[in-house]
Amino acid sequence: MRLYRLPQATGIDSLTQAEADIPQPGRGQVLVRMHAASLNYRDLMIVNGRAARGAPPANLIPLSDGAGEVVSVGPEVSRVKPGDRVAGCFMQSWIGGPIGPDDAASSMGGAIDGVLAEYRVFDQNGLIPLPAHLSYEQGATLPCAGVTAWNALFGGQTLYPGDGVLVLGTGGVSVFALQLAVAAGLTVVATSSSDDKLERMRRLGATHLVNYRQHPEWQDQVVTLTGGGVARVVEVGGPGTLARSIAATRQGGEIGMIGALTTGGEINPVTAMRKGLIMRGIYVGSRQMFEAMNRAITAHRIEPVIDRVFPFEHAAEAYRHQTGQTHLGKVVIRIAG
Ligand SMILES: NC(=O)c1ccc[n+]([C@@H]2O[C@H](COP(=O)([O-])OP(=O)(O)OC[C@H]3O[C@@H](n4cnc5c(N)ncnc54)[C@H](OP(=O)(O)O)[C@@H]3O)[C@@H](O)[C@H]2O)c1
Repeated sequence: MRLYRLPQATGIDSLTQAEADIPQPGRGQVLVRMHAASLNYRDLMIVNGRAARGAPPANLIPLSDGAGEVVSVGPEVSRVKPGDRVAGCFMQSWIGGPIGPDDAASSMGGAIDGVLAEYRVFDQNGLIPLPAHLSYEQGATLPCAGVTAWNALFGGQTLYPGDGVLVLGTGGVSVFALQLAVAAGLTVVATSSSDDKLERMRRLGATHLVNYRQHPEWQDQVVTLTGGGVARVVEVGGPGTLARSIAATRQGGEIGMIGALTTGGEINPVTAMRKGLIMRGIYVGSRQMFEAMNRAITAHRIEPVIDRVFPFEHAAEAYRHQTGQTHLGKVVIRIAG
């Protein structure tokens, strides 16, 4: 089979195509023919040696997010059967409840091998069926960006229809958050550096639009547009946006602390304290959250937004496209078909 490896994480040029024998599933394991994978900002950090965990293991197979078809199963497998269409969970060991101390060590494409390969063996517990209406390419967008957005919206305080949700920028997590929030009857404020992208966010259901480049004090607009601030921020910006996100949140609201797209900035905790805000750390989510999200995606026939699909041979181009931040939603690599 063909696969990619990262001999060392020294940049996109270090992505190396290789060949290996097709692995065989052991007890409780499942062999999946991978059809598609998708990229996340995290994958850029990993390939550039800037991941939070430090340098990845040598010769890592990259990417956490993929979907494919079950080819064969080992003894004692009951959760899936050959022919099933499945996606892998971002953290292979996190089934439900709060994240455990060892779950991060099972994150694919970072701590352990990922999915940018024609075949991969999974533990049966690390797989989940794809919603029937989704293609493999659409299914491959779900495990990290989708589940993170779901967790930020529905893993914390209860949100009610009509509550305001702020999504920052138009990357993978933010576009999923928009789609899931709209399906739940929430009112979405979307920000972007691009008016064209904002128009696309409007078409996807955003009620209020703010260009953060034209309006550097965008938090003031969010407060005005929502009559006092949002109930939830899907905070993918990090150090450079958090103070503004706090200002854009209403009394008693919640901020899902997700990303670090920006640097700099200073936070005054007193502001969050006086508003009674909940600042909730999000680390993707569990398999149970993934299952709950898939029920919502199925019920509302949500279609993930794919910006562009690259062939397997051009995986490095997909990484470059993701780096350029001209995308809206997800960047996908087709592995088979
Ligand atoms: N904690 C977790 O479990 C978790 C899970 C997934 C992602 N993340 C993190 O969340 C962040 C987003 O990930 P992703 O994969 O969705 O990224 P992505 O698809 O690469 O998103 C890139 C987009 O972010 C927007 N952006 C950049 N700088 C911004 C700023 N100053 N203010 C507002 N928006 C800005 C831009 O949108 P416009 O072009 O529209 O301006 C850009 O196109 C990353 O930091 C990632 O590491 C964390």
